[in-house]
Amino acid sequence: MSRKIIFATSNPGKMKEIKEILNDPEWEVLSMKEAGISAEVVEDGTTFEENAIIKAKAIGEICGEIVLADDSGLEIDFLNKEPGVYSARYLGEDTSYTIKNNHLISRMDGVEDEKRTARFVCAIAAYFPDGSIQTTYASMEGRIGYEEKGANGFGYDPIFYLPEMGCTSAELTMEQKNAISHRGKALVQMKEILRQYQPQTKSN
Ligand code: IMP
Repeated sequence: MSRKIIFATSNPGKMKEIKEILNDPEWEVLSMKEAGISAEVVEDGTTFEENAIIKAKAIGEICGEIVLADDSGLEIDFLNKEPGVYSARYLGEDTSYTIKNNHLISRMDGVEDEKRTARFVCAIAAYFPDGSIQTTYASMEGRIGYEEKGANGFGYDPIFYLPEMGCTSAELTMEQKNAISHRGKALVQMKEILRQYQPQTKSN
């Protein structure tokens, strides 16, 4: 029988990437919606890791299953690592990414290539039914582009230029992105932790 793992996200773009990477016959990976859980968790941590732990713990304590949660975002060096932990909320949660992306491009107006460095970062926390928590962390380095390019991915992908690949992360296929992305790498580390997890059997 496969073991249920719930991923605490309501972002369909992320969920697609996560299912692809955690694909394993031993596990049934469900979104909160698929698991029938609805809960608003206030992400008031000051780091990606803190926010991931807050989410995984809150949902794990509700359902008692293994719960994974990630917190990720874009750090732009020239903008003092903005939008950082506020990546999803930058300019307002409901503002379109075309507006967010073009706004960031305009804030980088006149900034030379070498100073356009940025990274996507991702922290993943796992809550286990015994109350223990484990975390992983990874990043993907790149540069802020001069215009939006590409239609794959989501969020800030169209302005995230990968010099070694000669394209943005929105121009990669999902497989290509998962192999090098912050979330892909943090998930591969988490996959190893999940494989090693041995549920405690209750004895009277
Ligand atoms: P979270 O859902 O609170 O982790 O917020 C993450 C936010 O960071 C997303 O809503 C995007 O704005 C941005 N982000 C994180 N990972 C990616 C990515 O792989 N591509 C594009 N944007 C990303």
